[in-house]
Amino acid sequence: MPSMTPDVMISAQGIHKAFGGNEVLRGVSLDLLRGEVVAVIGPSGSGKSTFLRCLNHLETIDSGSVVVEGDVLAQNDASGKAHYVPEAQIRKIGHKMGMVFQSFNLFPHLTVLENLIEAPMLVKKMKRADIVPKAEALLKKVGLSEKRDAYPNRLSGGQKQRVAIARALAMDPDIMLFDEPTSALDPELTGEVLRTMRELANEHMTMLVVTHEMGFAREVANRVVFMDGGYIVEENAAEAFFANPQHERTRAFLQNML
Ligand SMILES: Nc1ncnc2c1ncn2[C@@H]1O[C@H](COP(=O)(O)OP(=O)(O)O)[C@@H](O)[C@H]1O
Ligand SMILES: [Mg+2]
Repeated sequence: MPSMTPDVMISAQGIHKAFGGNEVLRGVSLDLLRGEVVAVIGPSGSGKSTFLRCLNHLETIDSGSVVVEGDVLAQNDASGKAHYVPEAQIRKIGHKMGMVFQSFNLFPHLTVLENLIEAPMLVKKMKRADIVPKAEALLKKVGLSEKRDAYPNRLSGGQKQRVAIARALAMDPDIMLFDEPTSALDPELTGEVLRTMRELANEHMTMLVVTHEMGFAREVANRVVFMDGGYIVEENAAEAFFANPQHERTRAFLQNML
């Protein structure tokens, strides 16, 4: 079904978010298109995680709008404050997005397979017989079939993160959000996780990736967004972004990353 206008998977407009008096997002707007991989980079504390968490309602926004595949999650009311849709709709929208965290967040008391099938069974009410083959296929895809019955504490960090990715995919999301998925890993383990993410990108998964991996951003992302101080300072097609950064802050940041 080819289409002239690309589908907007997430449209975030004018997002403001403060924690107490600390304004962490100061009007952040970003559209994520179907099949696009967008890398979000920027210094620590610039609001990258908060922005990601606002998209899937792990945080609430103060003002602005978030629309996911045409469904409004939140938008401003007449007074300019963000108003959220009812809980059932929030949940439905949440299921469109999978999220992978820096710290894996696997359930320690469940085996790898049980980690994958838990949410589809509890949240989506899928039958065990239907989800198990799918979970096994996902484990094969991330190269961890042999870890099916292992507990997370028997896995390396790279293996844990690949299980976390498979677990997110088991919910059949349309969009994957990654928050520094390799930052907690020993350097020799980042490659296997980045490879899995690259394969997802090759399959045209829509991905928003907060990362410090400049090689990944350059090679895999279509677009790169640089955040600093709660703003998007600069965004561009990946190649142009790295070849010709426009802002002094961007140049200084990239210099530091080399
Ligand atoms: N739950 C929270 N409560 C209070 N302050 C927070 C919370 N989460 C993030 N912050 C603050 O928001 C700012 C941006 O944090 P964050 O979004 O994690 O930045 P980044 O991911 O770019 O490092 C930081 O000053 C951080 O301390
Ligand atoms: Mg962060």
